[in-house]
Amino acid sequence: NWKLTDFIHSEIKKIKEKVGDKKVILGLSGGVDSSVAAVLIHKAIGEQLTCIFVDTGLLRKDEGDQVMKIYGEHFKMNIKRVNAQNRFFSKLKGISNPEKKRKIIGNEFIHVFDEESHKIKGVDFLAQGTIYPDIIESQSVKGPSAVIKSHHNVGGLPENMKFQLLEPLRELFKDEVRKVGMELGIPKELVYRHPFPGPGLGIRVLGEVDQDKVKILQEADAIFIQELYKNNLYDKVNQAFVVLLPVKSVGVMGDERTYEYTAVVRSANTLDFMTATWSKLPYEFLEIVSNRIINEVKGINRVAYDISSKPPATIEWE
Ligand code: XMP
Repeated sequence: NWKLTDFIHSEIKKIKEKVGDKKVILGLSGGVDSSVAAVLIHKAIGEQLTCIFVDTGLLRKDEGDQVMKIYGEHFKMNIKRVNAQNRFFSKLKGISNPEKKRKIIGNEFIHVFDEESHKIKGVDFLAQGTIYPDIIESQSVKGPSAVIKSHHNVGGLPENMKFQLLEPLRELFKDEVRKVGMELGIPKELVYRHPFPGPGLGIRVLGEVDQDKVKILQEADAIFIQELYKNNLYDKVNQAFVVLLPVKSVGVMGDERTYEYTAVVRSANTLDFMTATWSKLPYEFLEIVSNRIINEVKGINRVAYDISSKPPATIEWE
């Protein structure tokens, strides 16, 4: 008996009281939690909120423009887009170890965010899209399972920042956050988007990451996601994406021999992302996806489908 509109009204009132005439910054990632928090806070305090959107260059195809369009143009929020792509790519140069890549991306994000936050004068509050499960998870990060993969979530609080925290979603579960998002008028496609890891495509380009590989992966991934929507399959799987392997193989295109990268299509069905099975997508559908990726994406000449469950595999490849 959780009442949606009551929550929104009382939270707006609380935010207004807490913030008064002070300024708030928020790290907008484009993900559900930070977006819902941003729209809710914006409804309460309008121009007093500035969102910082760090474009790491490791986002999905056109994601940066989409964030600016929806939250900047449509919701008319103050958003500072930071084009930090080159910084991330140069830090990642020569690095192929997954844990190192995660740490580099997480640290660089904090640096960029920290720098930007200091450019805005007179800020008292840092808003975050922390939700209830985040709090539980961070309390239970103990033991060896926690270090299988270090989770650097974009939007984490730099330790030396001296802001008061504003976390309007901290008592909500994910499904409640989604309902609030819908009620606030955020497009369904964004509210029900599959989860996306903080390090983004940095851990889906396996091994060393560079801009060219990310571009290839973005194109392939966009085709897979587009076909899932078109065939009414997107909502039937819980996380779907493409991985780019640093492995080249021989193929033939017309009369020409090709020697290009291999893409892996990954789709998982899961309740809690702790265990998962691979999605039993129809062969005919996989055929369409494979043909389109090979024909349309320069740099890929072979597509494989991941049929591993978790455990023992993980959902991501790195
Ligand atoms: P794995 O690959 O461990 O992933 O089976 C489980 C879920 O967690 C996501 N994931 C991450 N999310 N930062 C995140 O914010 C990370 O570093 C990270 N690594 C994995 C993954 O996408 C899946 O939903």
